Amino acid sequence: MLVPAIAPNTTSEFAADVREGLTLRGQKELPSKYLYDEVGSALFEVICHLPEYGLTRADERLLRRYANEIVDRIAGPIAVAELGSGSGRKTRWILEALSRRQRTSYYPIEISRSALVMCERELRDIDSLSIVGFEREYLDGLCEIAQQRKPGQHLLVLFLGSTIGNFDRPQGVKFLASVRQILAPGDSLLLGTDLEKPAAQLVPAYDDALGVTAAFNLNLLARINRELDADFDLSQFVHLARMNYWARSIEMHLQSSRRQKVSIPAAGISIEFKEGETVWTESSHKYSLEEVRRMAVAAAFRCESQWIDEQWPFAENLLIAQ
Ligand code: AVI
Repeated sequence: MLVPAIAPNTTSEFAADVREGLTLRGQKELPSKYLYDEVGSALFEVICHLPEYGLTRADERLLRRYANEIVDRIAGPIAVAELGSGSGRKTRWILEALSRRQRTSYYPIEISRSALVMCERELRDIDSLSIVGFEREYLDGLCEIAQQRKPGQHLLVLFLGSTIGNFDRPQGVKFLASVRQILAPGDSLLLGTDLEKPAAQLVPAYDDALGVTAAFNLNLLARINRELDADFDLSQFVHLARMNYWARSIEMHLQSSRRQKVSIPAAGISIEFKEGETVWTESSHKYSLEEVRRMAVAAAFRCESQWIDEQWPFAENLLIAQ
C-alpha cells in the first residue's frame, strides 16, 4: 500500500527560488528539481525511452542482469529506501531478487506525488513486498525511514539513474556524506553513475530529434506561468544542450530568442532578458570509475563492487557505510 505524506514544496518556496535564480547578477539559473512537476515527470518518463538517451536502459540492463549478485553481497534482513523512485520500473529487479529471499519493505521517496503513484502501480504485483511512499525531500524522507527501522534490520538505499550527476561535484560528495550520516555502519547504498562519453553521444541524448527534452526543459517556464502567474512566451525561448568540458558535464539552458521582459507576479519580480541570454536549468555530470571510488571514500563509504554496462558506459556502484 502506498501512503503519500505531506507535499514538501510550497508555492512560496518555489517563488523564492525562482526570484533568487532569475535575479542573479551573472548567469540566470533555475533549480533543476523544479523540472519535475506532473507534466515534467511524464516527459522525463518519455525521455527514458528515447533512442538517443541510453542512460536509463543501461541502468536497467545492469539491474536486471546483476540483481541477484547485488543483493547477495548485502548481509541480513534488509529494508529498501529509494531516493527518487521515478516509475519504479528499474527497481523491480532488485525488489524481486530480495523478496524471493525475504519479506521486503520498500520506501520510495519522491517530491513528485504522480511519480509515487506510478511507482506503486508498477510494483504492486510483487509478492512479499510492502510499499510505503514518502512524498518528501530525499534526506528528510530517509531520516524518517532510518528512525522507523526494526532492530537488526539493514537499510539498502537506492540512488539510481545517475541523479547524483545533477549535483555539482562537491555538492554530490556532500550529499553522499549526508546520506552516510543517516545510515549505520554496514548499511549500503547502490549508486548509479553515468560515465564519461564523447560529446557526439551526449549532446543528442540531451537534445533529441523528437524535441522531448526541449519540451521537458521549456515546461519549467510553463510551470512558472501556471503556478506563479508569469507571462513567459514559450515560443521566444529555445532549448540548448551544451557540453561543459571543464566541469565534465552536459548543461541544459533556455535561451531567449530576443530582448524581452517577463513578469512573475507571485514572485514579485519583472525580469529583463537580452537576446541570446540563457537561463541555466540543469547540469548532468559524468564520472570515471576511479572517481566514484574516491567520492565513496570521501563520504565514509567503501566501494564494495562496480558493475559496468558496455553498450552505454554506466556503472552501478555498491557502497558500504563504514
Ligand atoms: C534525472 N537525471 C539523471 C537526468 C539526467 O540525465 O541528468 C535528467 C535529464 N535531463 C535531461 N534529460 C534527462
